[in-house]
Amino acid sequence: MNNTISARLACSALVFFFSIGSSGAAQPSPQSKPETVKIGSSDDYDLNNLPDDHYGRLVRYGKKLTDETYAVIGPEVKNPKMRYAGNNLACSSCHQESGTLVNAIPFIGVSAVFPQYRPREDDVSTIEERINGCMQRSMNGRALPFDSKEMKAYVSYMHFLSRAIPIGSIMEGSGLKPIKPPDRAANPQAGGQLFARNCVKCHGAEGQGERTGKIGDAQGYDVPPLWGKDSFNDGAGMNRLLVAMRFTKHNMVKALSDDQAYDLAAYIVSQPRPHKTNLDKDFPARWNKPVDAAFPPYVDGASPEQHKYGPFGPLTEKMKELKSSLMQGTGKL
Ligand code: HEC
Ligand code: HEC
Repeated sequence: MNNTISARLACSALVFFFSIGSSGAAQPSPQSKPETVKIGSSDDYDLNNLPDDHYGRLVRYGKKLTDETYAVIGPEVKNPKMRYAGNNLACSSCHQESGTLVNAIPFIGVSAVFPQYRPREDDVSTIEERINGCMQRSMNGRALPFDSKEMKAYVSYMHFLSRAIPIGSIMEGSGLKPIKPPDRAANPQAGGQLFARNCVKCHGAEGQGERTGKIGDAQGYDVPPLWGKDSFNDGAGMNRLLVAMRFTKHNMVKALSDDQAYDLAAYIVSQPRPHKTNLDKDFPARWNKPVDAAFPPYVDGASPEQHKYGPFGPLTEKMKELKSSLMQGTGKL
């Protein structure tokens, strides 16, 4: 584990904390140890310091696309060809503060760690492919063409936010802060009661959020919806219980205990949302499918219910046991 990319994966609080193992992909080892860098919000990300040239304008457009996705590439924009996102969320609905907030899956530094091995594809993904991952899942939409101005703008904005981070760094503050899940199944009913007390005042009783304007005006939300047809789809990272738990605890209501965040996340993932087709093709190398990816196939014999609500500890143990047999014949042993 001494190469930068898999070291970063192992450290990534987000995807791997409670999934099983990291990539194992053969990457060239660098000569020196990867640097650990603490990322932080600062004036460095102030776009006012950028000149009004080609690069500066594209970076500014990338920030606009991040904050007002719905107004530029959302499902209600005038030009049907520009309707890439399938819901009226913004990237910043989850990548808070325009993708500059530490521990809120910041865009700071992402250009330094892509291309990167990704278990969901069992392949090395470029930053463009990763952006389209969120376009097709979190935004329930379609892929942006790689040569579109919009894709170039996202890539340029992330590049601007990453320029102080050496390539291949291990970053503190990237992804979401890890939490060890409680050693029990999560309880969506208890989560529903907590939701009424802690979340309804902003997100609404039906999780529908609060629109800025009217339906059809492409003005998005003051508070984004958490489920229903204008939300992320069931293939999104946020639809995994352990991801939603971390986001809720550290990025929404900080006073929540781990147990409360766990039940709240269960409530959110138990709600209806758009369906992503072909989910069975995700994580084709089954040995590194996260235990809370609650869609078939399940290779460990555990119930769909347990993959959705836990307890996750036994599933993680089981996947460790199965790892070598699942890897057999994949050429990855
Ligand atoms: C509903 C929440 C949500 C929305 C909206 C969203 N994302 Fe994400 N994004 C995530 C989560 C969660 C992850 C972490 C990986 C995972 O589990 O899928 C992520 C990861 C990423 C990453 C990789 C970050 C890293 O540290 O490796 C990029 C880049 C990204 N998203 C770009 C975007 C862009 C661009 C948009 C808007 C077009 C967007 N996302 C909208 C939730 C969201
Ligand atoms: C004070 C208002 C407020 C409260 C209370 C609140 N949220 Fe949010 N929530 C927001 C806003 C605003 C966003 C968009 C991101 C941002 O601007 O920080 C958001 C984003 C989210 C998202 C990601 C985006 C999406 O649409 O899915 C999730 C998940 C979420 N909240 C869950 C919760 C849960 C669970 C609770 C209760 C524990 C909660 N929130 C309480 C205002 C609130």
